[in-house]
Order: sequence, then C-alpha cells, then structure tokens
Amino acid sequence: MLQRIVKPLAIAVLLLLSQLTYATEGMWLPQLLSGLNEKEMKGMGMKINASDIYNINKGSLKDAIVSFGGFCTAEVISSQGLILTNHHCGYESIQKHSSLQNNFLQNGFWAKTASEELSNPGLFVTFIVRIDDVTKAALQDVKPGMSERDRQSAIDKRLNEIRQNARKESWQETMVKPFYEGNQYFLFVTETFNDVRLVGTPPSSIGKFGSDTDNWVWPRHTGDFSMFRIYAGKDGRPAPYSQDNVPLSPKYFLPISLKGVKQNDFTMVLGFPGRTNEYLPSEAVKLTVEALDPAKVGMRDAALEVIDGYMRKDEQIKIQYAAKYASTANAWKKWKGEMLGVKQTRGIEKRERYEATYRELLDANAEQKVKYSGVLDSLNEMYRRIRPYAQTRDYYSELVKNVELFTAGDRLISFLGEVRDKGEGQYEALRQQFLESMQSFYKNYNAQVDHDVAVKLLDIYAKGVPKQYAGTEYAQICGESNNDSRALADKIYNGSGLTSLEKLKAFVQQPYNAVVAQMWKDPGTRLIMAMRKGFVDNVSKPVSDLQNSINNLQRTYMQAQMDVMATKKRFYPDANSTLRVTYGKADGYSPRDAIHYDFYTYLDGVMEKYIPGDYEFDVPAKLIELHKNKDYGRYGVNGRMPVCFIASNHTTGGNSGSPALDAYGHLIGLNFDRTWEGTMSDINYDPSICRNIMVDIRYVLFIVDKYAGCTRLIDEMKLVK
Ligand code: ARG
Ligand code: ASP
Repeated sequence: MLQRIVKPLAIAVLLLLSQLTYATEGMWLPQLLSGLNEKEMKGMGMKINASDIYNINKGSLKDAIVSFGGFCTAEVISSQGLILTNHHCGYESIQKHSSLQNNFLQNGFWAKTASEELSNPGLFVTFIVRIDDVTKAALQDVKPGMSERDRQSAIDKRLNEIRQNARKESWQETMVKPFYEGNQYFLFVTETFNDVRLVGTPPSSIGKFGSDTDNWVWPRHTGDFSMFRIYAGKDGRPAPYSQDNVPLSPKYFLPISLKGVKQNDFTMVLGFPGRTNEYLPSEAVKLTVEALDPAKVGMRDAALEVIDGYMRKDEQIKIQYAAKYASTANAWKKWKGEMLGVKQTRGIEKRERYEATYRELLDANAEQKVKYSGVLDSLNEMYRRIRPYAQTRDYYSELVKNVELFTAGDRLISFLGEVRDKGEGQYEALRQQFLESMQSFYKNYNAQVDHDVAVKLLDIYAKGVPKQYAGTEYAQICGESNNDSRALADKIYNGSGLTSLEKLKAFVQQPYNAVVAQMWKDPGTRLIMAMRKGFVDNVSKPVSDLQNSINNLQRTYMQAQMDVMATKKRFYPDANSTLRVTYGKADGYSPRDAIHYDFYTYLDGVMEKYIPGDYEFDVPAKLIELHKNKDYGRYGVNGRMPVCFIASNHTTGGNSGSPALDAYGHLIGLNFDRTWEGTMSDINYDPSICRNIMVDIRYVLFIVDKYAGCTRLIDEMKLVK
C-alpha cells in the first residue's frame, strides 16, 4: 500500500529534481536577472536578491568584478583595490618581471609592502558602471531585405550616436555590443584603470601544478591564482601609472567565506565569458566536430609531438618552446574534449531532435510559419556548402600558425603590404619596426624543430586540402619536389632567408622593389605566396559570401528560436566578452559507465601526484612540510586541506579568474577551467557532464598565509565565518 503511494511520489520528486538540475545552462545578463532568473536562483538556494548582484544605485556584486586585460576576469577582494585572478591570467606579467636571478615563475613573488608592488605597462582592468538596452535606437534604420553590408552600416551610424549621447562621467567610456546574433543591442558604460600592479603569486609548482597533463582535466590540484592591485589617482579616478597613485577604494568588494560548499549547494560565477555558439543548427555542430576540430587537432597532434620530442631532449629548446607549447596544447586539448563530449552525449542527435520539435511548432503556427519558413533548412544547407571551404581555411591557418617559418613569412608579407599602402617613403621606418618585432620571434625559434614540424604539416595539408582550393602555383611547387614533403621542407630550410634573424635582415636590407621581387624566388616565401594566392583566389571569396548568408540566416534563426520555442526553453545570449552571471550547484559527475567523480580535491591528492624534480608535478618543500604537519591553520577542514572543487556553472574561456560565490554572494572559489568531457559546453551544454573547475578560496588563503607568510594581505580582506 505504502509502496504504491511512495513510488509515484518518488517519481514526481525525481522529475522535479531533474528539472532543477537542468536549469544550470546559461550565461545571463546581470541587469535582467530579476525578471528572468531570480526566482529559480532562489529556488536553488540563493539567499540574496537580484538587486544585490546588479544595482546602479548602490554598490552591488557587479562592482567587484573586472575584465582583466580583456582576456580574463578578476574580482576586488579588499577595500584597498586588491584583486584576485588566475595564475595563468597573470602569467605574462609574472614572466615579464622574471629573470634568471629573480625567477618569479619558478619561486613565486610576494610584495612585502605596497612599495614593492610591481607595475605592468599595458595591463588594464575594466569595471561595468551601467548596462542599457539600446536595441530600438540601434535598429531603427534597418529595413527588411537590406544587404548585410547596408544593414551593418545603418546600424553602425546609430551606434555612434548612441555612444556619443550616452549619459556618463568624463572619465568613463562607452561601448555597444550586439546580442542574440544581432537581434538586440546593449550599451555599456565602463571605467578602465591602467595602473594595475602585481602583488603576489605562488610558484608555478603551485599555480600551474599539473601543467599541460592536468589541463582540462578533473580531478585537479592546481592553486591557479595570483593577486594584483588597482591604483587610482588621488581623486579615486582612473589615472595613468604614477608613483603618486593610491590604491583604489572600490564601490564594492567581495567578502570571503571560509565555509566552503556542500554537495548540491548553490554556486554562482560572475565574469566575462569570451565566445560561445549555443544556437547553431545541427549541420554546424557536425561541421565543427566532424570537419573543423579533426583538421585542427590533426595538425596540432603532429606539431606537438615533434616539439615535445625536442623539449624533452634539450633544455634550451624547452625554454624557447614552453609557452608556445602550452598555448598550442590548450586549444588542441579543448577541441579533442569537444569532439568526445558531443559524441558521448549524442549531441548531434539531440540537436536534430530539437530541430524536429522546432519544425513541428513552427508548422502549427500560421503567423510564424510565414515569417520563418525555410530558414532552418537554408541555414543547414549553407553549413553543408561552406564545409570544404571552412575546413581548408582551418588547415591553412593552422599551417601558418604552427610552421613558424610561415608565420614569419606572413608577417613579412604584412610589412611589405604596409609599405605599399603608406608609400615607399615609410620603408626605412617600417623596416626598423618590423625587424624589431621579429627579434623576440627569433629568440624563441629553432629552425631544426620548425623543419621537422613543417615536414609533418605540409604532408597533412597536401592530403587534406582539395587540389582545386590549394591552387596551381602550390601544385607546381610541390611537383618540383616530387610531391614529397620532406624534400620540399629540406629545400625551404636550406635555402630560405627566413630561418634566422641575420638572414631575414639580409633579406630586407635590399630596396623595397628588390625585396618584393625576391618574395617569389626565396623557396620559403615563394611557397607561402603560392599557398596564400591559392587561398585568396579559391577560398576567401566563397567563404566570405557564404559566411554573410550564414550570419543573416543565423540571426533570423535566433529570433525564430526565441519566438517558436518560447515555451520550451529560456534563451540567453551567446557569450561575447560582456559581463554575465551563471549559476549551478556543487556536484560531481559520471562521464562513463562505472566512473564517478567526486566534487572536491584535497592536498593529499597533490602529494599523490608529486613527482620530485618533474616540471609538471614537482611540489615545493615548504608545502610538503605543511602537509606533513597538517599545519592548515583556520583553512583546513577535519584535518584536510581542500584544494579544488567543481560545479555545474556554465562557463567558457574568459571566465578564468571569475569569482565563485555562495548563496550569500560570498567568495568561495576562483574559476579556472572546465572538465575534459564538458569542454563541448561552448556548442552543446549538457548539465549531466559539464562542470567548471574552481580553486577553493581556503587553499588560496592558506598559500598566502601559511606558505608565503604574506599576512598583510589577509588582514585587508573581510573574512566571514
Ligand atoms: N584550460 C584553461 C583555459 O582554457 C587553463 C589554461 C592554462 N593552463 C595550462 N596548463 N595551459 O584557459
Ligand atoms: N581556462 C579558461 C580561461 O582561461 C576557462 C575555460 O575555458 O573554462 O578562461
């Protein structure tokens, strides 16, 4: 009897639960939360109001979040402008301050006093003051049937006006960005600070622990954080770097909680996600995981294998190639995870089912049918058509990126083009500039490594790119070497003027016209010119025409989805490097049969991975000591030191350094990555396996306090118990 009642009840509860966990997709606009999300967020456990997150009348959470250099996120964590971001976001700044004597990457760095904090020319942080919907004004001149180009220029004219007329203070800036594929426009009033100083960073053996092997992977044990400070003029406003500048007194800063999270606790991430494509039709998802990802991954598989082989044998090459290797490997690994994730969750079938529902609903609505009929089919058709061109484009750009001699050649071509455009009178000055910019390139260049990469990649390119797209000049050159990539590479690396800075200098020492003529004679630049010509003649034009149609259709399809599927789905705009809020729950996941991942890692796990002397898994002596003595201070929990945790917040590149907040809006962690099976979330978010990875704030504080002894920083923070 009881059983019969319990069962339906249990099913209802399960259904409810699954609905709750299903709501974690989305990167929401902070100013629209009260209408769209607040209720759900509270249902999931949030204890604050939407108006505590975004408020233009008083300090709110959004006033503690900055775009860090335009590529990452950071958050203010003290009344004196102290900000927290990832180690990998601060990496370049840390590297620039490092030398063999003072190697901050290797040893870490902690400013003992404010006067030791280090300035970083070029680095900036941007606050969001206000966000306004300006769609109506932006689109007022748009007429049906306009060409993409006319449409864009009609909009651009209005955007200029909107920006100029925007209410703002003299030191503030404005920008307008398209949302929902250009169906809506929002104005941002911003405040940018250019005096941002390095305050502290752990050594790479903590901040980058696990390096490329652990990148995109859970379980993770990385203390991926660094600290900076924002300085302002004496009036508190943005000012260029000056010794007289003072720490910023922010409108709001994040209180820090030492409580951590329990399973299923509400979590929220605020930040600046870069780019997602969540509303593609099925053909575009297929294009990505069947054609583009494999082409790019194949190229990088080969390049990385060659470079890794040399790096393991040769210390000098390791230093020269470490940063390049890491950046090449980062995207490579992400694409591999993306292909796997889409396959495992049957992402394409899921998208096709979604389209079937869309078609059914569209068919049932006479008015919408008139408006949107055929849009989805045309869009899918366009993606089928663009496939071989788009794949060629990716082969080509991967070749130019990964064969450094081609990168150099490309830069040489750009320099000559600039001379052509600006006049030969500028030749001398531009040549100086060009050669200077190439100095750092050759500092980290090894022609032998590059030759071996070229052998492999030229081969893949020859096999992957259809003849009619590669062009006749390219075919001619390959023919001269019997279509043998090794022979071709030998010829190039023996004869080209691009293999060293000295040779390049000699190459461009001649008068402008002679250099131009030489471009078709030097075996290196000749091949680049030929491939480039093939690309421009046979690929660029069709790609850009098709892309124009796609943009147009994609915009219409976006609006169509929002109208037709309104009762089935809530729509958030794709990421576009603007401030967003995403929320979810602390939770593990099960990527495969019989495999389940917990959602927390501990310092014990660091010690499990420890490989003495290894460049990825070494552990500093002091940390080993602290672990041995369980000397965790107030940051440990039951004799253990939490390190990282995961949750179902929907994040992407650019969200690195974003704060993870608890139900009260208190800082509990720092976002820095996603799990391997979930990197597909950029095109196919799936709540069952997509997780973001955060370093626990207690680990951050433990490192600052117990490991580095930099208590002055802890003292300026607001810790809540
Ligand atoms: N995968 C993360 C992101 O996309 C972290 C990258 C930095 N870490 C590394 N080992 N390369 O940015
Ligand atoms: N690691 C990424 C970043 O640097 C975050 C991600 O892709 O999840 O922004």
